Amino acid sequence: MLVDRFNRSINYLRVSITDRCNLRCVYCTPPDGERRLRHRDILRYEELLRIVRIALKLGIKKIRLTGGEPFVRKGIQEFIPMLMALKGLDDISLTTNGVYLKDNLEMLKAAGIKRINVSIDSLNRVKFKRITRFDYFSEVWEGIEKARDMGFYPIKLNVVIMKGINDNEVLDFGRLAIEHPYHIRFIECMPVGFESNSLAFIPNSEIEKTLVHKFGPLIPVSPGQNDGPAERYRFDGGKGEIGLISPISNSFCQHCNRLRLTANGMLLPCLLSNIEVDIKDPLRRGCLDEELIEVFLKAVDVKPKCHPLNLDNNQKVHRKMCSIGG
Ligand code: 5AD
Ligand code: SF4
Repeated sequence: MLVDRFNRSINYLRVSITDRCNLRCVYCTPPDGERRLRHRDILRYEELLRIVRIALKLGIKKIRLTGGEPFVRKGIQEFIPMLMALKGLDDISLTTNGVYLKDNLEMLKAAGIKRINVSIDSLNRVKFKRITRFDYFSEVWEGIEKARDMGFYPIKLNVVIMKGINDNEVLDFGRLAIEHPYHIRFIECMPVGFESNSLAFIPNSEIEKTLVHKFGPLIPVSPGQNDGPAERYRFDGGKGEIGLISPISNSFCQHCNRLRLTANGMLLPCLLSNIEVDIKDPLRRGCLDEELIEVFLKAVDVKPKCHPLNLDNNQKVHRKMCSIGG
């Protein structure tokens, strides 16, 4: 199975199926958009399925589909059921910006997906538009509520709090985790692609303080088998959960269990380092499965011990988030 030099077992693959997105979140995409991959450089669905099959042979148990925005890729409605039919997958989930969620929930349910993550950085329509640069708050919110009504669980809401932009909404999100079964996950803003991100950064310790001051202690939730880097909590009597994901202030690299596959066929051993291993090239040269296995082993072998970003340096990652999918 896949074990790296630092004895971490790798059993989780995040698959970005497109770098395209129908939003332009301020921390992810420049105002005038991003140059996108050419269609021929994007892995075809059958190529993705082959890579995932190899990954499953190597002990990957959990897959997350990301983008860009997964629902903007044509054919995803047929692809997801094919993926779900692969043997050996314990857990498959999806991260979306929610704009097209409502119309895809029946398909997701029929395919057997239960876990979804929706990125939503504001509960205020005007501010939502300021952050994402599009006026789709109502669509996203309707999608979230419909998913809840249809029994999707857990529904995780990813929130990036930024200084001077949405930091006055921490309590509104906290309240949501008390009154509804949503898991609100505060993700520290990472300096990926943009200088300005470091200006907006707020450590999760501050968010925690704000929440505790208003709503009382955060009670730790014992971690589940397939948990990621979130520290999980709930409020006494709360229906949902709070998750704190603190890549900058409290590195969780020692427990990292993941690899990423970009839409253009690069395996990334770490979101926040610039290392990539090409899997598309051997695939398109018509290689045997053994060679693809070698590529996976190589990606795991070069997985860094920890990413180079912390509070004291000014490093940033050059790749754009929309091409990695978070
Ligand atoms: N910092 C923190 N989180 C980010 N995401 C995208 N870009 C950044 C960034 N620079 C988050 C999105 C999404 C998740 C997949 O990654 O909000 O919820
Ligand atoms: Fe799209 Fe997600 Fe990037 Fe926002 S953060 S622009 S929703 S890929």
